[in-house]
Amino acid sequence: MNDAFDYARYDRIRPIRWTGDALELLDQRKLPFVVEYLTCATSDEVAAAIHALAVRGAPAIGISAAWGVVLAARVVEAADGAQAGIALEPALQRLNAARPTAVNLAWALARMRAALHGAGADWRAVLEREAQAIADEDLAANRHMGELGAALIASGSGVLTHCNTGSLATAGFGTALGVIRAGVAQGRIDRVFAGETRPWQQGARLTAWELQQDGIPATLIADSAASHLLKTGTVQWVVVGADRICANGDTANKIGTYQLAIAARHHGARFMVVAPSSTVDMATPDGDAIEIEERDPGELLGIGGVRTVAEGIAAWNPVFDVTPAELIDAIVTEKGVVERPTVAKMRAAFG
Ligand code: MRU
Repeated sequence: MNDAFDYARYDRIRPIRWTGDALELLDQRKLPFVVEYLTCATSDEVAAAIHALAVRGAPAIGISAAWGVVLAARVVEAADGAQAGIALEPALQRLNAARPTAVNLAWALARMRAALHGAGADWRAVLEREAQAIADEDLAANRHMGELGAALIASGSGVLTHCNTGSLATAGFGTALGVIRAGVAQGRIDRVFAGETRPWQQGARLTAWELQQDGIPATLIADSAASHLLKTGTVQWVVVGADRICANGDTANKIGTYQLAIAARHHGARFMVVAPSSTVDMATPDGDAIEIEERDPGELLGIGGVRTVAEGIAAWNPVFDVTPAELIDAIVTEKGVVERPTVAKMRAAFG
């Protein structure tokens, strides 16, 4: 597909720009009505942007953190990589603490640490090259996953996706949304549905807008309409991203993913998880061991800054859930497809 695929047509948005001096992040709190880049000149500004969801999506968080390390290096004096590693560790810890669930953050920071080992006086340039490599590899992985995932989808299919897994959440092209882009381009996907993704509305505010930018028609549904939609037989595949995939295939993703997997299985639709191998965490045995981020309950108490809930009401706001491996039909990474994941299949694919 790579030679023929018109990436310029189907993938126009870039959420992360490195200027050489600063990191520019397409501010996802303001989309879709304000398209504005936030400039981060320090690693702590990058950590704050990750925490505040100015940049979000597991791969985009990892890439941003890697550039955050490059920014932290600007204010460190060190003779070589070993010295720099010690001096930079507090900044890396602060970046790592910005969000807990997406493993790509810790993975990218571990790569930046590893790049420093053995680096000489040019350690700053080494870090910059590593951050660029992390971004470039993510884009290449997404394009390859697009091919692998689309090949699983029969012509004339309908798909339902959740949250935002597109260019906005990655270096470009997207994970689940990359599969959808490729599937639409190949004529396999006729119908795209996007769940609005309460409470932060990644589906309504980001996915719907991103698909519109690329000329892919999509239909928005309330999250609570998903089972009703699946019952109609209009959707053959639910296609989602991931924030952490465990050694047994259990997968953490945006809150609401688990109930989609249950509904898909009940109605005979298939369920696909698409993520780069940087999202696979073989050190975490299963979903029970994943820390699930809980955010401000205030996100549930109003819409667009307007309070909709009476004063004095309690709210619980976990922003991820875990889909058990037995509900997943395929995990697609750039390394290949794991169908019906088990511990043995995951170990064979990811070591
Ligand atoms: O809270 P968010 O918006 O960062 O959550 C994002 C998701 O859950 C995505 O589905 C996941 O990170 C994959 S993005 C390619």
